[in-house]
Amino acid sequence: MKISLFSIIILFFYTSSAFTAEGGPCKDYGECDKFKYSLNDYESLQRGASTYINYCYGCHSLQYSRWGRIAKDLQIPEDVFFENLVFDKTIKPGDLMVGAMPDNSENWFGVAPPDLTLVSRYKGDDWIYSYLRAYYEDASKQYGVNNLVYPGTAMPNVLLSLQGNQRLVCKNVSLVADNGGEKRDEFGNTIFKEKCGFLEVDEGSGELTKEEFDKVIYDLTNFLVYVGEPSKAVRERIGWYVVFYFLIFTALASLLYREYHKDYH
Ligand code: HEC
Repeated sequence: MKISLFSIIILFFYTSSAFTAEGGPCKDYGECDKFKYSLNDYESLQRGASTYINYCYGCHSLQYSRWGRIAKDLQIPEDVFFENLVFDKTIKPGDLMVGAMPDNSENWFGVAPPDLTLVSRYKGDDWIYSYLRAYYEDASKQYGVNNLVYPGTAMPNVLLSLQGNQRLVCKNVSLVADNGGEKRDEFGNTIFKEKCGFLEVDEGSGELTKEEFDKVIYDLTNFLVYVGEPSKAVRERIGWYVVFYFLIFTALASLLYREYHKDYH
């Protein structure tokens, strides 16, 4: 009985690890790129908010956040914020960011663009960071693009003008030998094999370089992490205070303990 339970557990771990190895969250992209947020970098968050409102808000609402809260948290003076980032002049600071999309938008895309307030919580920041950089040219699709992280996505590549035209290309890569070095034939020449599925942007087709574009997506993802949990930065800061408090308290308590202990002898 015990053995069969044990084997079920082993089987469970085996299958779950096999599952992640083959069809991970980033699908054809392979491993998602790692993303490390920096919620105290207000300039990054401000740039991310600006990109979001200019390029994404037209389709995706942020219905659990309020305009004024974002201005305040991101340390943007309210008048500057409203002047530059709020295009509908009837909006007030206390209003929710319910979006600019009419209700029948799923007729246009086949899928209604989802609200993105909590997307960093359910998809993960690594996923978003990879997704927005994994569009490629694919003439067979409705918008002429497809995505390695979300194959067949109904979302057009809205940042194409910034990134440029990204394509899937094949490259000759050297094979890795059993000892970890390059594989060679008997004459000592490196053996190459054609591998496909690499993303490459046509030189000069976008407004930004690869590094600049990655930075835009970094800031945008950083902003979505903030929006998913606006008090995350405060919560993490308080966490450190608590740890610090315990350290001090433990030190004081142990000094006190030593003091009292003297009386026993
Ligand atoms: C023209 C409308 C449109 C614009 C603009 C747009 N999106 Fe989308 N987006 C969509 C649609 C439609 C989907 C649903 C795709 C699907 O499920 O196939 C989507 C899906 C997504 C998803 C996946 C959400 C999920 O739950 O699966 C993310 C993340 C996302 N968009 C981020 C962005 C960001 C960031 C921007 C701005 C750079 C942006 N989108 C701009 C239409 C748009």
